[in-house]
Amino acid sequence: MKGRNQSTAIEFILLGFSGLSNLPVLLFVLVLITYMIILLGNALIVLITFTDPALHTPMYFFLRNLSFLEICYTSVTIPEMLVNLLTREKTISFSSCAAQMYFLISLGGTECCLLTLMAYDRYVAICRPLVYTAIMNKGVCIQLVVGSWITGFLAMIIIIILMSQLIFCGPTEINSFFCDFIPVIKLSCSDLHVLKVVAFICSSVFSVIPFILTLTSYICIIITILRIPSTTGKQKAFSTCSSHLIVVTIYYGTLIIAYMLPKTDTLRNLNKIFSVFYTVVTPLLNPLIYSLRNKEVKEALRKALSKCVAFARIMEM
Ligand SMILES: *[C@@H]1O[C@H](CO)[C@@H](O)[C@H](O)[C@H]1NC(C)=O
Repeated sequence: MKGRNQSTAIEFILLGFSGLSNLPVLLFVLVLITYMIILLGNALIVLITFTDPALHTPMYFFLRNLSFLEICYTSVTIPEMLVNLLTREKTISFSSCAAQMYFLISLGGTECCLLTLMAYDRYVAICRPLVYTAIMNKGVCIQLVVGSWITGFLAMIIIIILMSQLIFCGPTEINSFFCDFIPVIKLSCSDLHVLKVVAFICSSVFSVIPFILTLTSYICIIITILRIPSTTGKQKAFSTCSSHLIVVTIYYGTLIIAYMLPKTDTLRNLNKIFSVFYTVVTPLLNPLIYSLRNKEVKEALRKALSKCVAFARIMEM
């Protein structure tokens, strides 16, 4: 009970931008512009996949939900970073910190599930084309997406429950831009064994299993594509999954780099900068990759744009 009181009353200080704070205005503008691009790009994907009937397929249904998730994910961290930069107000209460962390890890888990679903969708489309519409019907797609969100948010409750038991007695300065898991638990003076084991199991389940499933899907996809006799047939099949392949490669690439970076003190700043990179890179690149590489999305954007232009002309008259 005593520990509980202590930990709820506590305030953390986010040290993220100290050391870089001679450039606050420049950093503020840079982060703000990045955030705007992320919001705009992903909102455009949500809008266009919703309104254009040509994009009413399972693949774009999953993409829409992924873009929606990216908006949530960045909105958990970036606005707070901006306030931090602008007001120099660096304290954050324990409960806000725990809430931020809970949303971050839950959305991260959900993202892994969604990316895996998208790989499975491509697997069925390319390797089992005859039963595609039977397997990926609307009801199943909705169930799969809702299942991903529930899995992500339920599984991480246990970590937050364990975290709320921690006692903090030492310095409360977090060397990060937001309430990241490792920098926060490092400040605790409780025994961290159980929490560390549970966190390890959770992160393995939510990264290794999706990775293996995605890899398996793509191995089957590549084998199937190689068996297609004509070159145009090969290209056509590959073009439907290339955007997703790039996105998952970047996603797991950054995950593996983040995992392999040594967690020593000398590399602390590198880790810190990398954590920012990690939170903005997939949300930023997803809409770009899908809208620049994908013929159907490009076509839908072109149609929407010409409608807007037509509408503007009407307004002029
Ligand atoms: C994505 O799925 C979640 C859970 O089913 C739902 O709450 C959310 O509205 C969906 N978002 C979009 C844009 O479809």
